[in-house]
Amino acid sequence: LPPDGPPADLTGRHVLVSAGGTREPLDPVRFLGNRSSGKQGYALAAVAAARGARVTLVSANASLPVPPGVDVVEIETALELQDAVREALPGVDVIVMAAAVADFRPRAYQDNKIKKTHGPGQEDAAPSVELVRNPDILAGLVADRGTGRTPLIVGFAAETGDDSGDVLTHARAKLERKGCDLLVANEVGRDVTFGKDDSLVHLLRPGQDEARTVGPASKTVIAAAVWDEVVQLWTAVPG
Ligand code: CTP
Ligand code: CA
Repeated sequence: LPPDGPPADLTGRHVLVSAGGTREPLDPVRFLGNRSSGKQGYALAAVAAARGARVTLVSANASLPVPPGVDVVEIETALELQDAVREALPGVDVIVMAAAVADFRPRAYQDNKIKKTHGPGQEDAAPSVELVRNPDILAGLVADRGTGRTPLIVGFAAETGDDSGDVLTHARAKLERKGCDLLVANEVGRDVTFGKDDSLVHLLRPGQDEARTVGPASKTVIAAAVWDEVVQLWTAVPG
C-alpha cells in the first residue's frame, strides 16, 4: 500500500454490512418502502474492503455499484434480510446494521394486483392495509450472541429531536435498548442524510458519556470513523 493509502487494519477480519432499505410487498407491483439510498452502507463496505477486510454486503434495494472486493447478497424484505444475515453469520467478526429495516409489513400479500374498483357500488371504496411487526434483527443478533463480544454488533439510528428529547437523548436510549457495542446516530431532517452524500453522525458506546461527532462529512469519511471505532473496540478488548 502507498504510505498515504488506507490502513490495512481490517486484514483477516470478516465484516458483514447491511445496507439500503427493505421493501414490504402488498401485491406484485406495490410495496411499503423507505427513503434509504444505501449510500452509507455501501461506503462502509467499500472502506472495509480497502482496509483489508473480507466483506459481505447484504443489500436491500440499493441501485449502487458494487464496491471492488465486496460480496453482495441482494434481498428485498426484512424477513429476507434476517435470513441472509443469519446465513452469512458464521465466522463474521463484526456486523454493521446500516440497513433501514421496515418495522412493519402488510399482513397479507395479494397474489394479484389490487384493483381500484372491485365492482358496482365500490367506485369510492378504498382498502385498508393491516400491518404486522417485523422481527427486530439487530436485537435478535444481540440476544443470540449471549454474553461474549463476538461478533461485535454496530447499530444505526436515524433520529430527529422532538418534545421528549434531542437526538443524543433518543440515541442513548436506543443504544441501551438494543444492547449493541456501538451506535451510529444519524441526525435527520437537517437537510442531511437520506439520499444525500453528506451526513452528520454521533458515535456512541455503552457506558461512555461523550459521543464522538463526525460531520457534516461524506459517507466515506463517516465510514472510516466507524471502522476506526470498531478497531479501537478490538484493541481495548481483543475479540
Ligand atoms: N433494525 C433491525 N430490525 C428492525 C428494525 C431496525 O435490525 N426490524 C436495526 C436497524 O438496522 C438499525 C437499528 O436497528 O441498525 C435501529 O433502527 P431504528 O429504526 O432506528 O430503531 P427501532 O428500534 O426500529 O426504533 P424506531 O424506529 O421506533 O425509532
Ligand atoms: Ca425502526
